[in-house]
Order: sequence, then structure tokens, then C-alpha cells
Amino acid sequence: MDTLKKTSQQAISAAYPAMRPRRLRRTETLRRMVREIILTPDDFIYPLFVRPGKDIRKPIASMPGQYQFSVDTLVTEIKDAASLGIPAVVLFGIPDEKDACGHDNSNPNGIVPTAIRAIKDAVPEMIVISDMCFCEYTNHGHCGIINTPGDTHYTPNLPEGYLLNDATLDILGEASVVHAQAGADIIAPSGMIDGMVGAIRGALDVNGFDHISIMSYAAKYASGFYGPFRDAAESPPQFGDRSQYQMDPANKREALKEIALDVAEGADMLMVKPAMPYLDILAAMRAEYDLPTAAYQVSGEYAMLHAAAANGWLDLPRCALESLTSIKRAGADMILTYFAKDAVRWLNG
Ligand code: PBG
Repeated sequence: MDTLKKTSQQAISAAYPAMRPRRLRRTETLRRMVREIILTPDDFIYPLFVRPGKDIRKPIASMPGQYQFSVDTLVTEIKDAASLGIPAVVLFGIPDEKDACGHDNSNPNGIVPTAIRAIKDAVPEMIVISDMCFCEYTNHGHCGIINTPGDTHYTPNLPEGYLLNDATLDILGEASVVHAQAGADIIAPSGMIDGMVGAIRGALDVNGFDHISIMSYAAKYASGFYGPFRDAAESPPQFGDRSQYQMDPANKREALKEIALDVAEGADMLMVKPAMPYLDILAAMRAEYDLPTAAYQVSGEYAMLHAAAANGWLDLPRCALESLTSIKRAGADMILTYFAKDAVRWLNG
């Protein structure tokens, strides 16, 4: 009797908790039952680099397991991704020809339109997203037309070297129509040019592509985490950096303003980039807007995990899946990730 009394007193005493969350963590089955976030192949968008040529599968040194593909090997890679249930890819072109205005981005026989046609031919259900930016196509590596004396677009009252906003909007619209004609399902403007969503929406609509959607890189930061990508896409800026158009990592209110503008201009989906260092921005965007959200786990995030794993400091599958889970938990409906194929394999055990 005495013992029983003591036990029930203990149960309600402040020293022993009445609520015990650990009860639901006791076995893997219980944990599975109460799990809030579950990754599936539908969450992933697989970024791929494509260049002219044949039978090319050139490893990218700073991104283990990632390659520059020619169109033929790209199609094989995409069939593989499709067989794993990955619904979408985003394409980055590495053209042979670069010039001051990035003309090859608007060439119907350029590398990305050619790749899109081949993908749509071989795997028609695969959603093809075209990253819409000029940095891979310009010889100076900036994301549009640069104010240069002697050039047709030269504007004397703007500083030399300044990225010309509105001239760039015109060529963004033009190139987007070319990519849509080739069969792109989604145009994803990534240059942080003011008015890019509206300009592309307008150009698509007047050319009969009102059914093609826009995934805007709405809050894209001037990030050091893009380092490996610039090797992969052979697109580092030849002078200066991108902080006159990409956002300052210190700013959050400004991100919400950028997002509001893109929503007003007709964006169908909103992206934050990079992902892990900007989960607060992603969560704020999720809380304020109802449009589908995406986050881009960028090249540097991928490279960091690989580098640590190669040193034996981190368990790659565990940490990669933990990162992807965190990005989804913070509010991403879709994650652009170089881990797409690996993640599906790891999830399938
Ligand atoms: C611009 C673009 C970049 C990335 C995606 N689109 C590079 C940049 O803005 O410098 C980076 C993606 C990554 O780091 O994985 N076309």
C-alpha cells in the first residue's frame, strides 16, 4: 500500500514529467507513424549540364558524381532519372559560342533547345525546366547585357560595366520563347533582373505560350555557395561579381519585396536560392504566399557534404537526406538538388 501511494505521488510530482514525448520515439515503427515530413521522388528536380558534342560525360571535379553531358548521354541520364520516379529536370547549357549579348541562348538550334527536343522525344512525360539566364552565354559571364561604349545598347548616363536591365529583359523574353518552342514546360528566370517575370510572361503570352509556366528564382542571393557551379557551367564573371543584381545575404525584408514583385508579375512558382543557409527566407515565403515553393540546394551545399564525407567526417546519405528533409520542413514543395538520383536510391534503401 505504502509503495503504491509513493509511486502515484511520483507520477504527479514536478520532478517526473507527465508528458513523455520519448514514448513515441521508442521504436522505428512508432517513429514512422508520427513522422511529419516524408521525402518522395516527387519532391526532386534534377539539375543537369549539357554541352555540344557526342558521347561526352565529363566529370565535374568540384561536384563528385555530376557531369557535363552531350545531348545523347544526357538523354540516357534522364531515362535513368525517370525510371527512379524523378518528375523534372532543370537544364543549364554550356555553348561553344559566347559573345557580349549571349546570342546563343536565343538560337533555336542552340544547345538547350536541341537538348529539350531530344528529351521530349525520348521521355515525353519528363518536365523540362529551362534555367533562363545569360551568364553561361556571355563572354563576360554576367547575366545580361553590359553597358559598353560602342555597343548598340550603350547608355552614356549609366556607368560602364553596369548590367543594363531593360535591354536584358528584351533578350530574356526572346530566348524564353525559343526555349518554349523547343518544348520547355517551365521557364525559370535566374538572373535577378528587375521585371524579368513580367517580361517573360508577356513574351510567352503574345507568342501563344500562355500554357507555359514560370518558376521564378524570386529570392536569389549573391552567394559564395555557387562556386562549384561556375566551374561546372564554365560561367564565372570575368570582372566584378553579381552583387549588383543578386541579393545581399544580409537581407530578409528585401526578399519578401522581391517575391511580392514576382507574384504581381505572374510567377507560377517561387524559388529561394541557396537552400540551407536561407531556410528562414523559405519559411517566411511559405507563410506569406500560397504559390508552390521551390528551394535550390546549390552546388556548394552539395560539394560541402561530399568533401566532408570523402574525409570520413560525415555520413553522406544520412546528412544529405537530413538536409533535404530540413528544406522540405522549412516549406519547400520542390527541391532542386544534385542529390536527386542518389536520394531516391537511399530512400528506397
Ligand atoms: C545562373 C545560375 C547560377 C546557378 C543556377 N543558375 C549561378 C550563379 O548565379 O552564379 C547556381 C546553381 C548552383 O550553384 O548549383 N544561371
